[in-house]
Order: sequence, then structure tokens, then C-alpha cells
Amino acid sequence: MKSFIWSFEIYLLGLLIIGCNKMESSQKAEQQNWWKEAIVYEVYPRSFNDSDGDGIGDLQGVIQKLDYLKSLGVDVIWLGPMYQSPNADNGYDISNYEKIMDEFGTMADFDSLLAGLHKRDMKLILDLVVNHTSDEHRWFKESRKSKDNPYRDFYIWKDPAPDGGPPNNWVSYFSGSAWQMDSTTNQYYLHLFAKKQPDLNWDNPAVRDSIYSMMHFWLDKGVDGFRMDVVSLYSKDPDFPSFPPDFNGDFAHFYANGPHEHEYLKEMNRRVLSQYDIMTVGEASGVNLDEAPLYVSPDRHELDMIFQFELMGIDHQSGNYLEHRDWKLPEFKQIITKWDTAMAGKGWNSIFLGNHDNPRIVSRFGDDENYRRESAKTLATFLMTMRGTPYLYQGDELGMTNAPFKTINDFRDIDTFNKYKEIKAKGGDIDHFLDQERMFGRDNARTPMQWNDQPYAGFSTHEPWIMVNPNYTEINAAKEDSLQHSVLNYYREVISYRKNHPGLVYGDFDVLDPPNKKVFAYLRNGQQNHFLVVMNFSGQEVTFQLPDRAATRNWNVELDSYYEGPSVKNGEVVLKPWQSVIYREL
Ligand code: NOJ
Repeated sequence: MKSFIWSFEIYLLGLLIIGCNKMESSQKAEQQNWWKEAIVYEVYPRSFNDSDGDGIGDLQGVIQKLDYLKSLGVDVIWLGPMYQSPNADNGYDISNYEKIMDEFGTMADFDSLLAGLHKRDMKLILDLVVNHTSDEHRWFKESRKSKDNPYRDFYIWKDPAPDGGPPNNWVSYFSGSAWQMDSTTNQYYLHLFAKKQPDLNWDNPAVRDSIYSMMHFWLDKGVDGFRMDVVSLYSKDPDFPSFPPDFNGDFAHFYANGPHEHEYLKEMNRRVLSQYDIMTVGEASGVNLDEAPLYVSPDRHELDMIFQFELMGIDHQSGNYLEHRDWKLPEFKQIITKWDTAMAGKGWNSIFLGNHDNPRIVSRFGDDENYRRESAKTLATFLMTMRGTPYLYQGDELGMTNAPFKTINDFRDIDTFNKYKEIKAKGGDIDHFLDQERMFGRDNARTPMQWNDQPYAGFSTHEPWIMVNPNYTEINAAKEDSLQHSVLNYYREVISYRKNHPGLVYGDFDVLDPPNKKVFAYLRNGQQNHFLVVMNFSGQEVTFQLPDRAATRNWNVELDSYYEGPSVKNGEVVLKPWQSVIYREL
């Protein structure tokens, strides 16, 4: 009897140990969420598809392309701002949060877009632009009327400095002072962007209440989350200190992470976000590696992900967004690796190479002259094999390139115009500025989506609001669809591969040979599968020697951007220019 009790106790102890082990391994494993497994595609509505022939994209135009989006395999559409707006900054200046911009359609169009996406098992996230409104928003129209208007404190008003100038030396992202004098009350208001985009005063509880109720309005309609415009700028330093004399020029960091930032995000999470099964991604201008987890650690209950800006700064001189600098692949890898490490177990990364504020990815990170298709595919391989949620931008799946803007008249972006005027007024080098804008300008990504080789690239029947890239006869969705090994069809394949292999979503990331200047290679160690990704980021053929920890393993070629499948022989892979291969361990 005694021995029976004894062995029963040993059995219980065993169960306990197994239970603890199981608990430990599941604690270590990344928490699973639908938004981690999702692939997000940004639609910039003005340039996506024009259904009514006015030269401007619209919501019905997006609806017409839902099957195309479904066929790509993406799960979530991030729709750029479609709210009522005078369009000083293409919809990032909102005059009514609960109305649809006339040029884009009606609320009924919006409802059918949402229904059309949900019917296809896709989701919709909206751009939440609440650091600022338009100066044509009712709140601002009231606010500027008098110092005792009930809406006065919805915005940030200050007396002039003793010399009558602005209250401090802050500059706007779009150049010039961040303060605008308003003669009605003889005070300045703050605008970190254009003067038609006054900053809201987040310290005012009535502002936050109004924003939260607007968020409920959209979430109750069934939208699946938000991309939050310049989320890191909501809370301002109450002292509004001028930049110090030895200021390093990084004004984004100076403005970001204000004293109440996290208090407000926690409040927003409690009062709005946590009440729905949604995803959030914050555009985190000026947020560094140490500050990022404060926004996204799950136990802090703020946001799910942020967009970090470090990679987008790789080709700019530090502190000067207008000057190009050459970058080398090891720097790229270093940024990717350190952000992966910083978030591992503490948060979740968003993986992106471009969006509506950045140049075309193949022109910036690939080689749009000699290896456009090849490099576009390899960038797709990168986006789909990293740990983090991938974000694609419209047209990148076709390998669309930067546009050949000739003169300032070809541009449409307020940021370009303001900087142009400022440089011109100072007698600066305008030709040099335009060269930089041809490389970096946001309009590069905003030319119309190239659907086919018909006039205006099939985007519209009317001359579009911004020039069509003349290469549309060569680069367009119809052609890409018809070619077996096109960039588009490669995107479809690599997206589908990722979706069928959760190890690529959740698996550990282990970079191989970080100093290698031509090859970016890594292991992704999932629970069921281990992957090896090898990408040639150069226009030369290269032989890549795998380090010991990868060399002797049995790797099967799963996907190859050249469809030739170079196998690993003697621990080496030979890659053609810009070739990339995904292997899985057998
Ligand atoms: C970031 C947006 O992505 C950009 O397009 C816009 O101009 C600024 N925020 C201001 O809203």
C-alpha cells in the first residue's frame, strides 16, 4: 500500500514537472494574434483608382479593385485619410472626422467598401489623424474667434515673444516656424505641420473625449483598427522650451514622447481600443529603440505596433533630411537586427520599406535601372520573411519606380513646395534641392497606380491630379498579371508562402554574417520549421558561405526569385544578381 502511495506521489510530481515545462515553453513562445499574422496593404485613395473620371481616386475605385487585392493575398487594407478635408496635405488636414471627402464619395460608398472587404475576409484599418485638424474644422473656426470661446483650449495658443515674434524657435516638419500669428486675437497657434494643420491640445480632457467618441463612431461601424498618424507627438512639453543653442537638429525626437504621452495612450486604450478586437499601429516619429517598448509592450496596454523611422533615415545625412548619404548593407542589417532584438518578447515590430511618405522601394533600396524586377522581388522576400507584421504600399507589388519629375511644377506635395519656397527665399541651391526631391520626395510614391497600358495607366479617364509615371506602358498590373514570373506573381507566391508557414511570422530571427556587404541572410527558427533566407542585395553574382551553425543542415529550396533553386552545396550558396532564396530545413 505504502509503495502504491509513493509511486502515485512520484506520478503527481512528474505531472507537475511536465506542466511547468509546458508552461515555460508556452511563456517563451510569442503570443499569437491575428494582427501579427496579417499582411497589411496601404491604399492611398487619391492615387489608387478613379471610378468617376475626375482624375482623383475614390472609394468606388477601391471597391472595383477588391478582387485584385484579394488575389494578392493581403489581409488588411490601411486606407489613407478619406475624411472631409480641404486637402492642404492630401487629407491629413481633416475638417470633419465623420464625413467622407466629397472627391472620394459618400458614407454609403464607405459602408460598401467595408462590407466588400469583410465579405472577402479582409479587414480595414483607418488613418487616425488626431495630432492636428484642419484650420477649417469647426473646432478651430470657433477656437480662433476669441480667447474666451469654449473651443479656445482645443488648440495651443500662445502670446508672442517680447519682440513680437513666435513664442519659441520650433520649426514645422514642412519648414518655417511652427507658429502662426492669428490677428483676430493677436496670439500664435502651434502647427507642427502646415499652418492649415493646427495642433490639438491633448491636455484638454474635452479634446480627448471628442476624439474617443469619434473613434467609437468608426469602430462601431466595424472598422478593424487604426494607423495612428504621428502618435508620438500628442503630448507637448508644457514649458515649450526653445531648441538649445547646441541642438543636434533632431527636432522629431525633441517634440516626441511628451510628459503625458503614455498616460493618454493608456486612457485611449482603456476607453476605446480595449473594447474591440482591433489592431493599432502608431507612426512613431522621434521614438528611439529604448522608448519604443513603452508604446507597444503588451502589459502596458497602449498600442500593438509602431512604425519606427530609423531605417527611413539610413540614406539621409543625420539631422538633415534634405541631404542624401550613401549607405551600406551592414548598416541596414544592423538597424533591422537591433529593432528585432529590442522587440523580442517585449513587443512587436512592423516591417516596411516604403509608404506614401517615402520614395518607391525599388528605387531606394533596390536597383530600378539594371535589376528592377529582380531587386523588387528580393525586397518582397525580405518583407515576407521577417519577424513582424509586413506592410506593403500600393504599386510596390508591381515594382513601380520613382517618377521623372522635371520642374517644381510637376510636384504636388506641400512639403516640397514649402521647402522650395524657403530655399529660394534664402538664395539656396534650388537645382540641388530638386535633385534631392527627385530622390526622396513624397510625390514619388503618390503618382497614380499603374493598372494597364491604356491612357493614364487605366487609373482614370481624365488627366490625373498628379502626373502618371511614363513607364506605365511597361510597368502595369495587367502586364504583371499576365507574366508568369512577374514581380506581382512573385509577391503572390511569397505572401502565400508566409501565410502557410507561421514559423516565418513568429520564429526567432538569427542574422548570419552581419558584415557581409552584398548578402543579407538569416535563420528564422519557428516551432515546427526552421528557415534559411539568403538574399543578394547586389548586382553581382556572389558565393555566400554559410556559417557553421547553418552550413551542415539539410536545406530544401522552397521559393527562389529566379525559379532556379540554387541548393546549398558544401555550405555555400551561389546567387545571381539580386537573387533571393527561402530554404526550409528538412
Ligand atoms: C504623417 C503622414 O504620413 C504624412 O503624410 C502627413 O503629412 C503628416 N503625418 C501630417 O499629418
